[in-house]
Amino acid sequence: MHPEFWHERWSHNRIGFHRDAPLPLLLKHWPALDLAPDTRVFVPLCGKSLDMVWLAERGHRVLGVELSELAVRQFFEERGLAPAVHETDAGVHFTAGAYELIVGDAFALDAAVLADCAAVYDRAALIALPPELRRTYAATAWHRLPTGCRGLLVTLEYPQAEKAGPPFAVAADEVHALFDRDWRIDAIEVRDILADEPGFVADGVTALSTAVYRLVRRG
Ligand SMILES: C[S@@+](CC[C@H](N)C(=O)[O-])C[C@H]1O[C@@H](n2cnc3c(N)ncnc32)[C@H](O)[C@@H]1O
Repeated sequence: MHPEFWHERWSHNRIGFHRDAPLPLLLKHWPALDLAPDTRVFVPLCGKSLDMVWLAERGHRVLGVELSELAVRQFFEERGLAPAVHETDAGVHFTAGAYELIVGDAFALDAAVLADCAAVYDRAALIALPPELRRTYAATAWHRLPTGCRGLLVTLEYPQAEKAGPPFAVAADEVHALFDRDWRIDAIEVRDILADEPGFVADGVTALSTAVYRLVRRG
């Protein structure tokens, strides 16, 4: 999926993936990760997600990465924050309070940038990508996180033939194929959400569920 696809979505405000409240499954499952409050959390493909606000309210520091500068600027504007801005090889860093959001490519972040992220949160990131980019994403952004890093991954499952992504369906066997080498994986919840997603029903999708995985980076 070309970066232009996402820039076009943001410039025309076609951001149906953006939620106006933190994800209930984050609130439900994050506490069980048992992270220290000041843990730094990596949020790849972060958009302007309010999940980052919820994480910061728990005392966490947030490192996001996002292709769209518009999304990052909106995130700070909507919080009434005036970020400091500096540039590195990773991209343009916008920093204020608990937040550091890099306008850049998640696949290009090196391990040094991610070194003090002891947690990771992926909602609408893996599933935003087509199959070949999912492999690249797992082999770059996730692979470069440090040993012991813990996190949540939220996916969608539906018959892919019934609708074109994004969001794409990512079944449990693919999650294992992508992450088993580097991560210990536990599926902690699978929930039927078809009744909550009239857009999918209107597109003819006959089954839709969301799955939450807890992952721990192996040494
Ligand atoms: C479906 S949206 C989800 C945003 C956010 N996670 C949320 O829950 O609202 C996917 C986002 O990933 C961004 N994106 C796509 N490819 C990217 C990449 N290679 N590096 C950084 N951001 C990327 C897009 O601009 C878009 O904002």
